[in-house]
Amino acid sequence: MAQFVIEALIKSKIGLDANSIGADAIASVISQRMVDCGIADIANYLGKLQASSEEWEALIDSVIVPETWFFREPESLTFLKHYVLSEWLPRNPQGVLRVLSLPCSTGEEPYSIAIALLEAGLNPTNIHIDAVDISKKCLLKAQRAIYHQYSFRGNTQLFQQRYFQPTEPGYHLCKQVRSMVNFLHGNLLDSNLLLGTAPYDIVFCRNLLIYFDRPTKIHTIKVLEKLLFPGGLLFVGHAETGLLLNSCFVSVRQPLAFAYHKAVASGVGIKESDTWGGLCGKTTVNNRPLSDRKPYLTNISPPRHSKPHIPGETTKINTKISTQNIPDNLLETAKILADRGCLDEAIQLCNSYLGQNRGSIEAYVLLGQVQQAMAQNEQAAQSFEKAIYLQPTHEEALTHLALLREHQGNIGSANLLWQRIHRLKKK
Ligand SMILES: C[S@@+](CC[C@H](N)C(=O)[O-])C[C@H]1O[C@@H](n2cnc3c(N)ncnc32)[C@H](O)[C@@H]1O
Repeated sequence: MAQFVIEALIKSKIGLDANSIGADAIASVISQRMVDCGIADIANYLGKLQASSEEWEALIDSVIVPETWFFREPESLTFLKHYVLSEWLPRNPQGVLRVLSLPCSTGEEPYSIAIALLEAGLNPTNIHIDAVDISKKCLLKAQRAIYHQYSFRGNTQLFQQRYFQPTEPGYHLCKQVRSMVNFLHGNLLDSNLLLGTAPYDIVFCRNLLIYFDRPTKIHTIKVLEKLLFPGGLLFVGHAETGLLLNSCFVSVRQPLAFAYHKAVASGVGIKESDTWGGLCGKTTVNNRPLSDRKPYLTNISPPRHSKPHIPGETTKINTKISTQNIPDNLLETAKILADRGCLDEAIQLCNSYLGQNRGSIEAYVLLGQVQQAMAQNEQAAQSFEKAIYLQPTHEEALTHLALLREHQGNIGSANLLWQRIHRLKKK
């Protein structure tokens, strides 16, 4: 039971889905932390964890996957140089290029970005790189900037010779590159992350989304969208591209670069909810119409009685009609919209579906997840409660509600739910 609660807490705090690395891996991390703390009983360890922020940090440091190296997925950096020289620089000859590396782990990624930009001929005074990670231990290593051969995989000898000094403890990165990166402690799940910072021209968010479940990925993509200027570039890891398909992030179509432009909405007064999932208004990338994009919601029939959708045409019918005239697969469509971050539209569809299917547990759970992603926590709790009312043993709904209560600081109510889930698991 306590292990299960710890797994759920880890997921709610840092997004790590136990299924992505395996419950056994988490169990062994917890056992090691218990040994380090001199605690034999896991329930006591849970108590310590709930009472001590230091223990949380230690657990996070042990459970995260900090795997990284210099010039990982090198085609991304090659494309970065090409983009900066051919598109960004001509438009911003005197400007400062703002780049974010999140998560940055032990620094190999943001330092590789800095080196790539120097190699492209940019002046360091025209480059601003922020690098964020949840692990303070990783950030300390990053600031120290001394690396072992393990951090150099692939064809990086040239950079190693040019920018690193071999020393007793390892290869020390030169001061010029070190001084180009600002390391910051932050959590991608924190809604106040980088609050008040200007948007970035380029965001690298690689090899983290793979550890998240679907709702967390949706939330993350929305956060990343906000962090980028319209037209800015998002780089993801090779296993993370699926989530961006048919969204307002548009592939640069460069093999192995895994780079996406955030679409530029040229409509006036465009709302945040319009900038998602192909439900955008008149949308262009670098002033090119997105006529080659796949139509949105490819798996549903076009709305009846509506005029044909002309790609690139400014229209509001997308959001409105798509939520009304798709009788058969409303719930599936709601899931697709939720996946794409079109949360308002997903809620509309869930409610329409529930109007016709009052007993749909699945719809209440989805509605609750979407409401939670929109920080409508009380409405979300009510939706999960309705699902639980319909099926008191519905584990997914119980887990969502337990996590939500935990998040709201209602530990008593959360613990009752955890006990209920635990009893179900034992049956
Ligand atoms: C596999 S590394 C990726 C590093 C680098 N982006 C790369 O691709 O080489 C994953 C990093 O994500 C960090 N991390 C995990 N959860 C996080 C969160 N919620 N917010 C910020 N960083 C997180 C971990 O500390 C770890 O350093």
